[in-house]
Amino acid sequence: MKALLCEGWNGYQGLVFGETPAPILPSGCVRIAVAYATVGFGQLLVVAGKYQRKPPLPFVPGTEVAGVILEVASDVTGFKPGDRVAASLDWGGYGEQAIATAETVWHVPDGVELRDAAIIPTTYGTAYAALHWRGHLRPGQTLLILGAAGGVGLPAVELGKLAGARVLAVGSSPERLALARARGADEVLLHTEPELGQRVKALTDGRGVDLVFDPVGGDLFTETLRCTATMGRILIIGFASGTIPQIPANILLVKNIDVIGFNFGTYLGWSPVDERKLHAAGLRTMMQTLFEHVLNGEIKPTSSDCYALPDFLSAFEAVKSRRSFGRVLIEVNGG
Ligand SMILES: NC(=O)c1ccc[n+]([C@@H]2O[C@H](COP(=O)([O-])OP(=O)(O)OC[C@H]3O[C@@H](n4cnc5c(N)ncnc54)[C@H](OP(=O)(O)O)[C@@H]3O)[C@@H](O)[C@H]2O)c1
Repeated sequence: MKALLCEGWNGYQGLVFGETPAPILPSGCVRIAVAYATVGFGQLLVVAGKYQRKPPLPFVPGTEVAGVILEVASDVTGFKPGDRVAASLDWGGYGEQAIATAETVWHVPDGVELRDAAIIPTTYGTAYAALHWRGHLRPGQTLLILGAAGGVGLPAVELGKLAGARVLAVGSSPERLALARARGADEVLLHTEPELGQRVKALTDGRGVDLVFDPVGGDLFTETLRCTATMGRILIIGFASGTIPQIPANILLVKNIDVIGFNFGTYLGWSPVDERKLHAAGLRTMMQTLFEHVLNGEIKPTSSDCYALPDFLSAFEAVKSRRSFGRVLIEVNGG
């Protein structure tokens, strides 16, 4: 099959497009003809060997796909060849055929395009599980979202609004903030704004926000700590700025703030102890909810850029340069 191969930890520029044997189908798994796969900041880290988890070299990267089932292992029930599915993968998404464990494959309902479905499992899954399972977001609370036009930020805006929160979105340009506003943000702020924390406080009657969704880290984390309310919570999602913040524990103490680590990979079996079976039922319920939101027009999976597999360099560069909106896609077998 045609695929992108990662042969060393040389970053996306070192990936090789070519022919490789189709993967074997282990028990407990399905084989998918990949229609679309997503590219996010996390994949930049994976192929550079900087992600918390390193697949064995050489491997085909790509962890979020939608496509059609080609084959089902004899011990798997609930799926059959021809089913349209979305899946989170251990790796293997940037190839014509991918293997997924049955626990991390979900049916795509009629009426949802595979192009949109590809963005649901890990991208929307991260935003939903972080806000609800770990962040315990409640209607009427204020939610501050950093990187709000990015891959996981934009879903967090939509899902935060759907949950009944007042959403404050932070981004890097008026154009990107306009998108966040169109998706439900009540207030938008440029991340370069001087005294960002003071502006947020002014927008919350001096109180600060109840919950922060932070996929950026760096100086922005420190700034948001200043405008987190007493008893507030901060979800640590990622470090797209490239800087892992050091947390001043005295501020946490004085303001009774919870800083909450969040790793969606834990639910997908990517931790040292594979817990995907433990979380399969919860994930299935969440995916049904997310697909219902798509069908109802309540969320709009967004991808400003879609590239053919041989043009993978453009896909990764669109992510790296921060010029894409929402999630970047690679079209593998077509929709
Ligand atoms: N914890 C988890 O389970 C989980 C799951 C998925 C992703 N992640 C992590 O979350 C982070 C974001 O992932 P993604 O897929 O959403 O990436 P993405 O689509 O590339 O979006 C990254 C966002 O970060 C913002 N950003 C980047 N550098 C910045 C800087 N120096 N200052 C301010 N903002 C900056 C950008 O904001 P603008 O749009 O304003 O330019 C962009 O929207 C990554 O670190 C990724 O590894 C974690």
